[in-house]
Amino acid sequence: MDIKQAETRIRELREILWENSRLYYVENAPLMSDYEFDQKMHELEALEKQFPSLITSDSPTRKVGSDLSSAYDRGDGTSRSESGFRKAQHRYPMLSLANTYSLEEVQEFVARAEKTIPEGFSYSCELKFDGTGISLTYRNGHLVQALTRGDGSVGDDVTENIKHIGNIPLDLKGSGWPDEFEIRGEILMPWEAFLALNREREDIGEAPFANPRNAASGSLKLIDPREVGKRGLMCTLYHIPTEYIDFASSHSGALDKASGWGLPVSSDRKICHGIGEVENYLHKWETARKGLPYATDGVVIKIDELSAQLELGYTAKFPRWAVAYKFKSEEALTQVLSIDYQVGRTGAVTPVANLSPVPLSGTTVKRATLNNEDQMRLLDLHDGDWVWVEKGGEIIPKITRVEVSRRTPGAAVPEFPKVCPDCGTPLFRPEGEARWFCPNTDGCPMQAKGRLIHFAGRKAMNILAGEATVEQLYNLSLVKTPADFYDLTRSQLMTLDGWKERSAERFLESLEASKSAGFERVLFALGIRYVGEETAKSLARHFGDVDSLAAATVEQLMDAEDIGEVIARSIVDFFADGEHLDQVRRLREHGLRFSVGEARFNSDGALKDMTIVISGTYSISRDAMKAFIESNGGKCSSSISSKTSFLLAGSKPGPEKLRKAASLGVKVISEDDLYEMVPRPDTAVQTPEPEDGELTLF
Ligand code: IVH
Repeated sequence: MDIKQAETRIRELREILWENSRLYYVENAPLMSDYEFDQKMHELEALEKQFPSLITSDSPTRKVGSDLSSAYDRGDGTSRSESGFRKAQHRYPMLSLANTYSLEEVQEFVARAEKTIPEGFSYSCELKFDGTGISLTYRNGHLVQALTRGDGSVGDDVTENIKHIGNIPLDLKGSGWPDEFEIRGEILMPWEAFLALNREREDIGEAPFANPRNAASGSLKLIDPREVGKRGLMCTLYHIPTEYIDFASSHSGALDKASGWGLPVSSDRKICHGIGEVENYLHKWETARKGLPYATDGVVIKIDELSAQLELGYTAKFPRWAVAYKFKSEEALTQVLSIDYQVGRTGAVTPVANLSPVPLSGTTVKRATLNNEDQMRLLDLHDGDWVWVEKGGEIIPKITRVEVSRRTPGAAVPEFPKVCPDCGTPLFRPEGEARWFCPNTDGCPMQAKGRLIHFAGRKAMNILAGEATVEQLYNLSLVKTPADFYDLTRSQLMTLDGWKERSAERFLESLEASKSAGFERVLFALGIRYVGEETAKSLARHFGDVDSLAAATVEQLMDAEDIGEVIARSIVDFFADGEHLDQVRRLREHGLRFSVGEARFNSDGALKDMTIVISGTYSISRDAMKAFIESNGGKCSSSISSKTSFLLAGSKPGPEKLRKAASLGVKVISEDDLYEMVPRPDTAVQTPEPEDGELTLF
């Protein structure tokens, strides 16, 4: 490659890396896989090494990525508005780590270090946690500041938000800490909380987060600190800048002390001697990490002795005394057969690729979401392309790149539809939204079916009507709106293809059972935009019945716990629509509960003011257990903190939960112990499990 060609390629790589850094750190919506990003960065590094005259100070190889929204403002109005957090300078820069996917490079790192420090040293091997970086400052044993990494020298001040994360102590215990010091680590969203958050987001028609890292980072930047507290985030700390350490002679010794002061430090660390032990650690965790409750994306190998660290020093971006060995996510190559454009109940249109089935991480992948039009464009997807799919830490398989070498010459670029694929109405894309929407709320069959599936869902009315049944009932014009379910007769059901007496009976039983579901479930089932399960509970608690709720103004709605203006407006709009009021009237006539009964949400119940974490399985479903706790005045939370009243352990509780409860001194009780405190729930009305599956894409 000559210098002209190198210049072009360098410019191209820098553009790609800048744009993807912004999507990764600021938008929390990466389009490129980590592997792909790292490969491009390594390519750029190699070119700059070969052609040093082309190095610039703003090259992505010289600067660490930034989570500050202003960092990517190129003056052309393309960056988003400021996050609203006060910015503050890091006392010592918050650096990144050199990373590699190759064992040989780890061996080279070890060989280099052993040559530079011939007197011998040990390695601290640790997990590489896949969250968002944080630096905490403690003064006289009190937490005084929390900064995000930002651009490495300036970060966002998120102190108030951090105070709502359960395992971060506001005050240290014991003694011997420096008067003032910083300790750095990662804010993580455990898988369980991540899955729950995404379910909630899908329930209210919001795009789900791609992975726990983006979810953690997005949650940390929420404006309302109380909201942050509800996201089930946790912290793990792994680095104290050497400058603060006069109380230990090694990195691991310093972390052990920090752990003794009550700071959350992982115990999955190991001191290793020589490359053999390091490799054993890498191999062990490549598999063992799959059993951890949170995401990790590699292992970090650090030279443990602080004297050796000081001798090795830093480059502009990385310490020379550490390297990150990253696990490559499993990926597979397959062909795109076609693209479906699915219309959800909110009208959002999602492109989904149908793939030639391919095995990946133990399952067969047949479909992958393309998220939105921009993603299709950025992938540069053409009809019939061969693509790489990856599951990595992500739950939903994702297309990470196109294998251009296998493209059929002349293949066309698929055109994103201009009109709704179902009802033909022209689509629109609201400002600031990445998705296109079908505006035909009442007339679009896909939206109507989506609303029926949502209404019948397990967490809503729990009616035995999944995707296939709704399709049948809708196509025969037997059910067009939720209230129509309740007009169905046994003889109508018996005329349906494949239905027998028993299935009709079970279906009708599930309809009857749904009439005893609480007001909050009915409210959730109505599918009001932005009203998820938790919001529905808050509204039910605050307003008590649908009449007061429907009559409330935006201001009155905002008086209820956790209701902001966007949700309030959406509720007002919903009840301003005559069709919706008609639905409510009909559902009410059928006997659904539109007010909070005396027995429900007994805020003076035996579990008043208690926060309970549930784990494992019980004699009743987990949802029923949650409802039971709440009906007795308790609150359920997904993560354990010092504020947790007790951990309710069913059979097979999560080992991590038990460990955490033990470490925080939180009491663990059994289901029977609970029934000593509050009478056992009435299990007479058990709703049957749905027969046909819920709507699942993958
Ligand atoms: S040490 C001076 N240890 O990975 C170096 N970093 O890709 C301090 N990370 O910026 C970092 N787990 O946000 C360190 N056990 C660990 C880590 C870790 C995750 C993150 C950290 C860093 C990034 C580099």
